Amino acid sequence: MAGHDDPDQAARRARELRELVAYHNHRYFELDDPEISDAEFDELVAELAAIERRHPELATAESPTQQVGGAPAGLFAEVRHRSPMMSLDKTTSYEELLAWGRRMERYISGEVAFTCELKVDGLAMSLLYEEGRLVQAATRGNGEVGEDVTANVLTVDAVPRRLPGGSPEILEVRGEIYMTITAFEKLNQHQAEAGARVFINPRNAAAGSLRQKDPSVTAGRELSFTAYHLGDVVGGPSFRYHHETLEWLRELGFPVSPYVATVPSLKEVDEYCTTWLQRRHSIDFEIDGTVVKVDDLAQRRELGATSKAPRWAIAYKFPPEEKNTLLRDIMVSIGRTGKATPFAVLEPVVVGGANVQLATLHNEDQVRAKDVRPGDTVVVRRAGDVIPEVRGPVLSLRPQGLPAWTFPTTCPVCGSPLQRLPGEADTYCINVDCPGQRVQRIAHFASRAAMDIEGLGERTVALFCQEGLLADVADIYSLDYERVQAFEGFGPTSVANLARAIEASKSRPLANLLVGLSVRHLGANGSQLLARAMGHLDRLMEASEEEIAAVEGIGPVIAASVKRFFSLPRNREVVERLRAAGVNFAGPSRTEVPQVLAGKSVVVTGTLQRWSREQAEAAIKARGGKAPGSVSARTSALVVGSDPGSAKLSKAQELGIPVLDEEAFERLLEDGQLPASRSGA
Ligand code: IVH
Repeated sequence: MAGHDDPDQAARRARELRELVAYHNHRYFELDDPEISDAEFDELVAELAAIERRHPELATAESPTQQVGGAPAGLFAEVRHRSPMMSLDKTTSYEELLAWGRRMERYISGEVAFTCELKVDGLAMSLLYEEGRLVQAATRGNGEVGEDVTANVLTVDAVPRRLPGGSPEILEVRGEIYMTITAFEKLNQHQAEAGARVFINPRNAAAGSLRQKDPSVTAGRELSFTAYHLGDVVGGPSFRYHHETLEWLRELGFPVSPYVATVPSLKEVDEYCTTWLQRRHSIDFEIDGTVVKVDDLAQRRELGATSKAPRWAIAYKFPPEEKNTLLRDIMVSIGRTGKATPFAVLEPVVVGGANVQLATLHNEDQVRAKDVRPGDTVVVRRAGDVIPEVRGPVLSLRPQGLPAWTFPTTCPVCGSPLQRLPGEADTYCINVDCPGQRVQRIAHFASRAAMDIEGLGERTVALFCQEGLLADVADIYSLDYERVQAFEGFGPTSVANLARAIEASKSRPLANLLVGLSVRHLGANGSQLLARAMGHLDRLMEASEEEIAAVEGIGPVIAASVKRFFSLPRNREVVERLRAAGVNFAGPSRTEVPQVLAGKSVVVTGTLQRWSREQAEAAIKARGGKAPGSVSARTSALVVGSDPGSAKLSKAQELGIPVLDEEAFERLLEDGQLPASRSGA
């Protein structure tokens, strides 16, 4: 951060930062439409706080560093909170956590226990009960004055309207209104189907659902609530510890998080934070960190608060999984089946630990529901090992007059018309000779999931197609190496390696060949099932549609597609040329592969060195095992490569499921024996 040691310059920058902070507060709290991420906002405040530390004369009580949130927006009546709704100081590291601990030593001494909670990403809510009846629900607003959203909150099932008999005269409960990921996805699906704009994230969806003039709209949205703080209580029991207040709130019928832990020192606090950082995707709601609170209420009183935040609590913030960036363009790629997939070309942005510059937009309806337009600032999300996603535009930053994007009517590669059939989501280039499709089909044939020909990637295939060396997959086996050698970058060694890789591919199992042929609807799993059931390509080609559909795990759609594929003369001709080249058409049949994994369920996560995900899963299935996408109590083992899904790994460890590395996986494929001891990774 630039140092502003010249007082004039510092004052100027402080003024600028205050305006920026006020503006972004307004967008976040009043319009529910933030322009910048939380992390970017925190940076602005941190820079301002740093200037104020160096130039204390600039720090006024009105500075946003001394205030919380924004002012109410006027859509709802104003409510003055009985006790202020403060915000929390933030940390992102163990060192900062320890520094917080040391600061507390100025106010209290002796042992300090902490209650750790999840920081649910929703909207802070203050609920007021009189004689056990919910009489008021208010948003945080600026911390002193919030908005009266009682009518809307009364429609939220998770918020008790009445408390059991004998409850206090006055009870103020603080908590978070939020939306589960399941409810959020359902809502967005609904919005998309209704032709309405989808929400960017569960927090926006919860905020948008709550800030409705018409409570029946809120009632139709699935909102949740979690209570985490006891405010003012008149005529009720008194407590010594925060964790006791939570238990009491639970008894009164409030939803209280089951993930709360009270621990004796900051070391355990750090463990809690680290564990939840890894586990954040194992729960059905979004969290942006954890909240650490001093458990002893007497100690809390001694610690007190600054004008903005209590000294007895701190938020441990996780790295953000959403960032804003520029959508430079929307382009369409043509897949091997002719499917035209729109994708976002982004100003590169680091989010969720990866540099993101491309993201699929799936299909025409998705682009419409998100209403993203080239030139928009968009929210990009990348969470865990899930592929990056464009969530939606930041509307307030949309340049005026920015035109909506329309799906092209012709194929960007071959120029023939694109076709979208009624009732289907996808658009296709229906020209089978489309060079775009051809390159994709041949590259797929050569890919690791299929014939695994090293050195024949998409770029090389595109070059060979362009030069007229390849027109279909069978041409691979009669490649003109002399011409190849003349191309730039193809020395004798690389040509010899390519020739060897092509030769080696001839002996791949039938299932790989089936995958490589790009039969519509037939994936790795179906190919494996058909190869095992039929044992030979000729047998499959002779089989009737009914016989194919009778293979366990093969449905009528695949059966019809397979039958149709092999009935087309041009495909038969390719098959015959593959046969003539000596490509293996046989097995393995069921008897050839020992079913050592029968009854076992093996999950693969992360990147393995010698196996693609598809190959690893196919190998498990070929041995009679199941290879599901997620870990459950029924999982027999978890195979872990590099960059594994943290949710899968922590779940497996939690359930005591054996975790295998690549070598252990290969031994498992040999003999089906799981290691005796249940090892960690
Ligand atoms: S305690 C004085 N506990 O985080 C203590 N807050 O920046 C009040 N939040 O406005 C907050 N989960 O919206 C607390 N378990 C939790 C929380 C939590 C989420 C939010 C809340 C608050 C913000 C603090």
